[in-house]
Amino acid sequence: MLNFELYNPTNLVFGKGQIAKISELIPKDAKVLITFGGGSIFKNGVYDQVRESLHGYDVTEFGGIEPNPRYETLMKAVEIIREKKLDFILAVGGGSVIDGTKFISAAVKFDGNPMEILHKRLLIKDLSQVVPFATVLTLPATASEMNSGAVITINETQEKLSFGGSALFPKFSICDPQVVSSLPKRQIQNGIVDAFTHVFEQYLTFPHDALLQDRFSEGILQTLIEIGPKVVENPTDYKLASNYMWSCTMALNGLIQKGVPSDWATHMIGHELTALFEIDHARTLAIIGPNLYRVMFETKKEKLAQYGKRVWNIADGSVEEMANQAIEKTVAFFHTMGMQTKLSEYTPDFEKTADFVVNRFQERGWKALGEKQNITPEKVKEIVEMSY
Ligand code: NZQ
Ligand code: ZN
Repeated sequence: MLNFELYNPTNLVFGKGQIAKISELIPKDAKVLITFGGGSIFKNGVYDQVRESLHGYDVTEFGGIEPNPRYETLMKAVEIIREKKLDFILAVGGGSVIDGTKFISAAVKFDGNPMEILHKRLLIKDLSQVVPFATVLTLPATASEMNSGAVITINETQEKLSFGGSALFPKFSICDPQVVSSLPKRQIQNGIVDAFTHVFEQYLTFPHDALLQDRFSEGILQTLIEIGPKVVENPTDYKLASNYMWSCTMALNGLIQKGVPSDWATHMIGHELTALFEIDHARTLAIIGPNLYRVMFETKKEKLAQYGKRVWNIADGSVEEMANQAIEKTVAFFHTMGMQTKLSEYTPDFEKTADFVVNRFQERGWKALGEKQNITPEKVKEIVEMSY
């Protein structure tokens, strides 16, 4: 097993009716900025619950954070915090609102142009240099509620860039699975497939010594397969909703990544498809993931076969046979979850995409991705072209 440090300071508050606990968790004298998205929180009662719990606090609101949050929008919130000297941020929303809030938190006191945080992919580690923040999660998918990473889009240059650091864990996150009941089917489908792929990025590599981590990962995958199609149809079922929410958090809160190699190339390529075509994050993963496993078959075949055997109960065969079947099972699952798995099903303008992605990666010096650093620009081109 590889050496690791496990640090996760987020107080995760999980369950029915927990939004009312906000007032116990934010200091009474805090000057709070509530951040949110396009308004779903007004329709499903989450906003009312949050405001009720913040009764008596000094509260300012900032709405309009878009899916795939934009740098340009977030900088407006940065100005408000500086101007009003606010000292706590409460993100109420999905991954986009939470990621956007992480950027706001890091940018307020940043000495220099905050765009550097993204372009230089700075690691934000100094707690005295960020504005403390917490979250009320409304969309299980990204695990941003319990990790310290974020992905921000710069409108001007159509770049989708990630950053993070140990100072960017939420102080607390309230996860009430009842929020799932108001989610559109499309977003639940996205959440399941995003979490599924998060596990893959940390599990579908090559055989290693971290036996327990493999079992954790397989448990999350099996749970997502068991509940995914059902929760889309029955979002008010608390058993399904709570297991969906917890599986998503567990898929990317750091635990399964400890002591193991990880990949993340599907995400890196997927982010370019979102930047170019505004395809939902999870849907880009369903397009790219299976083709990445096909192109990188030699590197990943043992783990693919293990996944096929343990998660899909594929009966014994050769490693290659089981690995191939595992890829096909995955594609079929993505289809069951409402995904289309070809780029041409989303846009007619796909033909130059591979060259665009390769150029972008080369500009950034990304010449060797993946757990073995063997996903070269040539491989990226092959993966994207196979995804047309
Ligand atoms: O904006 P509002 O009106 O709130 O509507 C949102 C949005 O339109 C809606 N929604 C959220 N909760 C709802 C709801 N509608 C009804 N009822 C509710 N309870 O859902 C839409 C999508 O929301 P968004 O936050 O964009 O979705 P998601 O949580 O999937 O986040 C996606 C973003 O997270 C990034 C992605 O790249 C993308 O930008 N990621 C962040 C990661 C991280 N921080 O660790 C990892 C991921 O791999 C991912 O890259
Ligand atoms: Zn993701």
